[in-house]
Amino acid sequence: MTLSAVHAFDASRIDPAREQGKRDQTAAPPCHVRSATADDVPEMEALISHFARQNRMLFRTAPDILASIDEFVVARGTLPESALRLVDHAHPDGDFLLGVCGLHPVGLGLAEVRGLAIHPDVAARGIGSALVDACVERARDLRIAKVYTLTLVPRFFEKRGFIQVDRGTLHLKVWYECYRCPKFANCDETAMIRPLDLEPVPEPA
Ligand SMILES: CC(C)(COP(=O)(O)OP(=O)(O)OC[C@H]1O[C@@H](n2cnc3c(N)ncnc32)[C@H](O)[C@@H]1OP(=O)(O)O)[C@@H](O)C(=O)NCCC(=O)NCCS
Repeated sequence: MTLSAVHAFDASRIDPAREQGKRDQTAAPPCHVRSATADDVPEMEALISHFARQNRMLFRTAPDILASIDEFVVARGTLPESALRLVDHAHPDGDFLLGVCGLHPVGLGLAEVRGLAIHPDVAARGIGSALVDACVERARDLRIAKVYTLTLVPRFFEKRGFIQVDRGTLHLKVWYECYRCPKFANCDETAMIRPLDLEPVPEPA
C-alpha cells in the first residue's frame, strides 16, 4: 500500500491499547492520515514552531517545509472546541492539523523520521504512532533498509520498534541538521534506529 492514497485512520486499528480498554474509547478524535500538501504548510509550521519554542524540536520555516513537502504525512480531523488554534484562517477542507511527521532519505539506504509533532490537545490518542507507522510504510515502499531518529522521547520510539544505538555508529550524514540546533554543543537527543531489512515483510493489508 502506498501513501499517495488518502486513507481513513481508524484509531482502534492502529492502537492496541485502546482495544484493550486502556484508554478512553471516546478520546480518539476522528481523523485521517494522508500525504501533506501545500495547503497544510501554515499549520505544519505553526505546530512545529509551538514545540520548537519549547526547545523540543527544530524550527522549520514554511519555505523549508514546502521544499520537502513530499516527505511529510499529516493527520487531519476535528479538534475540541477549546483546543489551541494554530492559525487564524480555516483550511480549505474545514478540518484541522492534528499531527505531522516526515521521512527524509539521507542516502546509504538510510532515512530519518523527523519533524514529528502532535497537536497538544490530541496527544496520547495514538496519532503519533499512526504517523510514524505511515513513515515506516513509506520507507518500505522506497526500499529503504533502515530508518533512524534523533529524539528526546526514546520511550515513544521504542514502542514503534526503534532501538537505541551509540551515536558514533551512525554515518556522519545523519548529523546534517545539527549545526542549526541551539543545543548543538550540548546535545541531549537519543539516536535510535529501526532496521527494516531485518524485519519480516508485512502481509499486504
Ligand atoms: C511525543 C509525541 C510525538 C507522542 O505522540 P502521541 O500521539 O501523543 O503518542 P501516542 O498516543 O501514539 O503514544 C504511543 C505510545 O507512546 C507513549 N508515549 C507517548 N508520548 C510519550 C512520551 N513523551 N514519553 C514516553 N512515552 C510516550 C504512550 O504512552 C503510548 O504508549 P501505550 O501504547 O503503551 O499507551 C507527541 O506527544 C509530541 O508531539 N510531543 C511534542 C513534540 C516532540 O517531542 N516530538 C518528537 C520529536 S523527535
